[in-house]
Amino acid sequence: MKIEDLRIQEISREVRDGCQELNLPDSVLRQCMDKLRAQIDLGLNPDTRDKSTVKCFNTYVQDLPTGKEKGQFLALDLGGTNFRVLLITLNGRHFDMQSKIYVVPKAIMIGPGEDLFDHIASCLESFTLEHRVANKNLPLGFTFSFPLNQVGLKNGILTRWTKGFNCAGTVGRDVVEMLNAAVEKRKNTLKIDVVAVLNDTTGTLMSCAWKNHNCKVGVILGTGSNACYVEKIQNVIGFDGDKTKPYVIINTEWGAFGDNGELEFIRTPYDKEIDKNSVNPGKQLHEKMISGMYLGELARLLLVKFVKDKILFGGQASPALLEREKFLTEYISSIESDPRGVFKQCRNVLSKIGISDPTDQDCSNVRYICESVSRRAAHLASAGVATLLNKMEIPSVTVGVDGSLYRYHPHFHNLMYEKIPELLDPRIENPTINLMLSEDGSGRGAALIAASGSEHNV
Ligand code: GLC
Repeated sequence: MKIEDLRIQEISREVRDGCQELNLPDSVLRQCMDKLRAQIDLGLNPDTRDKSTVKCFNTYVQDLPTGKEKGQFLALDLGGTNFRVLLITLNGRHFDMQSKIYVVPKAIMIGPGEDLFDHIASCLESFTLEHRVANKNLPLGFTFSFPLNQVGLKNGILTRWTKGFNCAGTVGRDVVEMLNAAVEKRKNTLKIDVVAVLNDTTGTLMSCAWKNHNCKVGVILGTGSNACYVEKIQNVIGFDGDKTKPYVIINTEWGAFGDNGELEFIRTPYDKEIDKNSVNPGKQLHEKMISGMYLGELARLLLVKFVKDKILFGGQASPALLEREKFLTEYISSIESDPRGVFKQCRNVLSKIGISDPTDQDCSNVRYICESVSRRAAHLASAGVATLLNKMEIPSVTVGVDGSLYRYHPHFHNLMYEKIPELLDPRIENPTINLMLSEDGSGRGAALIAASGSEHNV
């Protein structure tokens, strides 16, 4: 008997059947792709954008890096669990970076907007004082990873918060103006020049394109999920950037796909439960099926269901297992990092949530549940990438990817690497698709864009 057969025997039939709704065959993924493509097309046209869930914002970034960018830059990176300030020196192929991580307290994430920008300015001030650049008026690239309706390289109107942030009095306002107002309060010590605001996907694309000019797509699979790509300006209706240049990077904001019901045909009761308990119910439904902020909780809901059905752990849950958000997405990565048939990490994780002495069969079931959740996420992300590649119709493309989920999950890369080609339009001949892990797109990407938007780049 093969090892694979042994494993199959160990997974309970009830678990296999119960996870079936997370298994999306290619025909279903193709339906998702058609719907996503339709939303992208609506988003690219200002007359229909309001109706679209996938806004496809112009980033005003029209040049990929040349490798000749030069100078000293500051970058701010706000968008996930942490906030970072960075000092970056670019000089041809040489790149140097110093950075510091600051915590954004929960009270600030959901408090008044003014407090958030004051907190950012105060971290910026202490960082620049420490590095003796506080008064140098350095060009700054602001990686602000939330949906922004950009009206220029350094102007962006916040359209909604995502990923657990919800700061009052900010939606509908220009985030660079709010940052500048907070910096102004510290004008005796702090002088900076915000030259660009960008999304983390754009930073990722730029950072990868700096090394590999074939990079035309940037994807984030982290706390949230989103993608940007290089579009021909003739496909962007009413384009108001530099019309002498052929391309522009489009920030799709695909996390909001599904918010008009497009994904109802695949959403499960677990997805609905996650959404109901989130700070933004009804919003970012695609993101809630894919990204790191939600996968741990999805797995927990499935685990609880199978405990209640008396299939797992002899029907006995632990208090932690019954508590929301106690099963972290990083646990999924640990459990799936065990070699097949070995349950070292699995037992370790289960003991952290108060489940002692699980049987091998329990462990096998737990792993299968985690795999079902992460495989669906990887396949939906692959369908998203394939939609963009089919639209771009280029046979050879590098996709820059960043984010903790992609970086730390042991199989996410392979799952996507296998699935994307299966979903490509057969009319694209001999496709070569690479997935490239980005090295700090939010930092280096911000500096590269700041360099293009600044006179300091000499
Ligand atoms: C959310 C944000 C988006 C960001 C993504 C990844 O979807 O709305 O702007 O790119 O998370 O961080």
